[in-house]
Amino acid sequence: MGEKENGRSVAIVGATGAVGEVLLRVLEERRFPVRELRPLASARSTGASVRFAGRSVEVREARPEAFDGVDFVFFAATGSLSKELAPEAVRRGAIVIDKSSTWRMDATVPLVVPEVNADALVAHKGLVACPNCTTIGFVMALEPLRRAAGLRRVVVTTMQAVSGAGRPGLDELEAQVAAIGRGQTPRAATFAAPIAYNVIPLCETFLDSAYSTEEVKLLHETRKIMALPDLDVTMTCVRVPVPVGHSASVLIETERPLTPEEARRALAAFPGVEVIDDPSHDRFPTPTDVVGRDTVLVGRIRKDLLSSRLWLWEVCDNLRKGAATNAVQIAEEMMRRALC
Ligand SMILES: NC(=O)c1ccc[n+]([C@@H]2O[C@H](COP(=O)([O-])OP(=O)(O)OC[C@H]3O[C@@H](n4cnc5c(N)ncnc54)[C@H](OP(=O)(O)O)[C@@H]3O)[C@@H](O)[C@H]2O)c1
Repeated sequence: MGEKENGRSVAIVGATGAVGEVLLRVLEERRFPVRELRPLASARSTGASVRFAGRSVEVREARPEAFDGVDFVFFAATGSLSKELAPEAVRRGAIVIDKSSTWRMDATVPLVVPEVNADALVAHKGLVACPNCTTIGFVMALEPLRRAAGLRRVVVTTMQAVSGAGRPGLDELEAQVAAIGRGQTPRAATFAAPIAYNVIPLCETFLDSAYSTEEVKLLHETRKIMALPDLDVTMTCVRVPVPVGHSASVLIETERPLTPEEARRALAAFPGVEVIDDPSHDRFPTPTDVVGRDTVLVGRIRKDLLSSRLWLWEVCDNLRKGAATNAVQIAEEMMRRALC
């Protein structure tokens, strides 16, 4: 029996981070065939351990030699580390699935949400990029409507959880809530303003265009994944004091008019999407409903009062389908198609 039949050797760069921790759980839950696990992080974590499949596994420093003999490397650390080490891992024969934004817009790198564009994997050269956590939920809600009626124009406002900025984001919300409880003034470090009991119309940093880096990623990644290079998308990305679960309010103009009922049917039939939409009983999805789940939840599907455009509301667990689950699904799909 060959090595692959016994399972795959899997490395996680950033195994001690917010996404890395969820990756470990998702690999366990989905019974990904892990023959050997190599949790990697910075020198700060040397000597630490993570739990996997009922045992404790020591964390090692992410260095090129750590990729020798590895089949899959999930990168969930920093963009600069992916830039430096992902080519090293590919050179050593591994398939890299990268969660950072470094390689997403590289024309030679597939950017994949398996339910939407799994066929893009065929052209891989060892490295596959996983989209931004906001983009994944967004394209999962758009693709069924594109298939049903084509897309003309989309306007989106996102409401993004603090865990989108990793452990530092989660820690900052918790510390600020505690400070306010003690009657102290909250101090902002990770975000540009206090996030506790507040809303910040900035995710990441502003560009000269007055759009944020997050907003521009959402535009370009959506166009690449959907293979619609001219799709008219405009967006505002907002940070909200929610631990986990990104939401988006989306206004969609389709090529041919779609009734809310047709849209509901198309969304409900799409793998990985669930419709929760019953205004008569105040039923709609919220971030709390999606935490720990892999489905993208969609509700508030309604016709614009003045045109045939449609509104919808979408929520996605940014650490699961928005990051870890999507990355593991990419690896599963590559194995299913014998692409690795
Ligand atoms: N959070 C989300 O919702 C989300 C969604 C999609 C994509 N992403 C992307 O996923 C990646 C990880 O995000 P996160 O939210 O999990 O961040 P995080 O909670 O801050 O974790 C960062 C991880 O990277 C490791 N790391 C940092 N610098 C390193 C270095 N020089 N060498 C080796 N390891 C290093 C850290 O190890 P130590 O513990 O040793 O410092 C930690 O394990 C980022 O690229 C992010 O943009 C995040």
